[in-house]
Amino acid sequence: MPTRRTSDTHATTLGGRTLRPESLMMSYGYDPKLSEGAIKCPIFQTSTFVFESAEAGKAFFEVAYGLREQGATERSGLIYSRLNNPDLEVLEDRLTLWDGAEACAVFESGMAAIATTLLACARPGDVILYSRPLYGGSHHLLQHFFAQYGVEAIGFLAGAPLPVAEADLLRAVGGRPVAAILIETPANPTNALVDIQGVAGLAQRLAHEGRRPMVVVDNTFLGPLWQQPLKHGADLVVYSATKFLGGHSDLIAGACLGSREALAPVRGLRTFLGTMAGPWTGWLLLRSLETLKMRMTASMKNARYVADFLRDHPRVRAVHYLGHLEPGHPMYEVYRRQCTAPGSLIALEVEGGEAGAFRFLNALRLVKLAVSLGGTESLAEHPASMTHADVPAEVKDGLGITPGLVRLSVGVEHFEDIVADMEQALAAV
Ligand SMILES: Cc1ncc(COP(=O)(O)O)c(C=O)c1O
Repeated sequence: MPTRRTSDTHATTLGGRTLRPESLMMSYGYDPKLSEGAIKCPIFQTSTFVFESAEAGKAFFEVAYGLREQGATERSGLIYSRLNNPDLEVLEDRLTLWDGAEACAVFESGMAAIATTLLACARPGDVILYSRPLYGGSHHLLQHFFAQYGVEAIGFLAGAPLPVAEADLLRAVGGRPVAAILIETPANPTNALVDIQGVAGLAQRLAHEGRRPMVVVDNTFLGPLWQQPLKHGADLVVYSATKFLGGHSDLIAGACLGSREALAPVRGLRTFLGTMAGPWTGWLLLRSLETLKMRMTASMKNARYVADFLRDHPRVRAVHYLGHLEPGHPMYEVYRRQCTAPGSLIALEVEGGEAGAFRFLNALRLVKLAVSLGGTESLAEHPASMTHADVPAEVKDGLGITPGLVRLSVGVEHFEDIVADMEQALAAV
């Protein structure tokens, strides 16, 4: 069993020093002795695991299905790759280190993570609150899927300080139980922030007959390096691991993290929906995590140069970039409190509306025209007609998803080359 938990495999200190996550990404949670001495965790491409005895199999199932508590010294056993697999277990243990979480569950996509998490929270008759704008897929899930099962999704505008007209929101909820508050901060695609601590306070006030809404934060844009929502009162953090965690635009995956208690229903439902990631995806993510800090740091530093260049360009009407927030801006205090760096996502409004944005996108050479973000290469896309095409036309403008808006994910190329590409593409606008 390659994931056996020992004081060696799961040590996070050296002498009196607490080791940083980047130092543990190559070793944490993995015992080479259990895999023929392999320095890397092998790919456990297997559907099922052989039990040592019938009694051991019975004991593993009792724990896995929650029929009894796991004993203090009892090992959890590998059963079947829909329930557990060594690549996922090592990966989940490593992911907990960045967010300061007790537990993690990895999924085959970000949408699988978000859908499984919300399904685990909601019952028919409940309400789900969500910040807007929200990634188009999450928005579709809330507005079109959950509505069929008697769960109403009510949106509120992202921006800070928490702009929820609380009285209006309470009126819309109308005394119904609120299962969850899903927030995406910074918001895709506008970089608008939502005050996590403020939302946690709102969740307390919305408690209904002993049930408090779960505060779920989509941390895809800044996490796990530059924002750790569990430290600001979130119950669960979700990711599209396709983005920075994967980091090479070569896999689709998702993750959900939180306390053991908060994650238990999500993990349980994952088993029965079968939305877990496969071993190959798990292995690719393990490899990616070794360079996570280097990649995120390099692209964050590049983004500063690119954003400054765009801000001064006459064919750019506005740049939405967290590094440009200044004291006095309504989002500044929230940024200072909950983010440690501005990340590498920039939204820019190009002159000339959709036609101007398309001319710009079609003229890019080094930067590729593609949806997704957080990879080593720089990508640009047009939210109004692509990732957020599903958002009704009449609300797009109010959310800042204007016809001239372009979302840019800055990669790890040399910043002067990215700027040169921006410059020649803006000449075409
Ligand atoms: C903020 C955010 N959340 C969730 C998702 C969905 O993730 P996935 O495509 O991995 O299912 C995306 C995808 O772009 C996203 O940008």
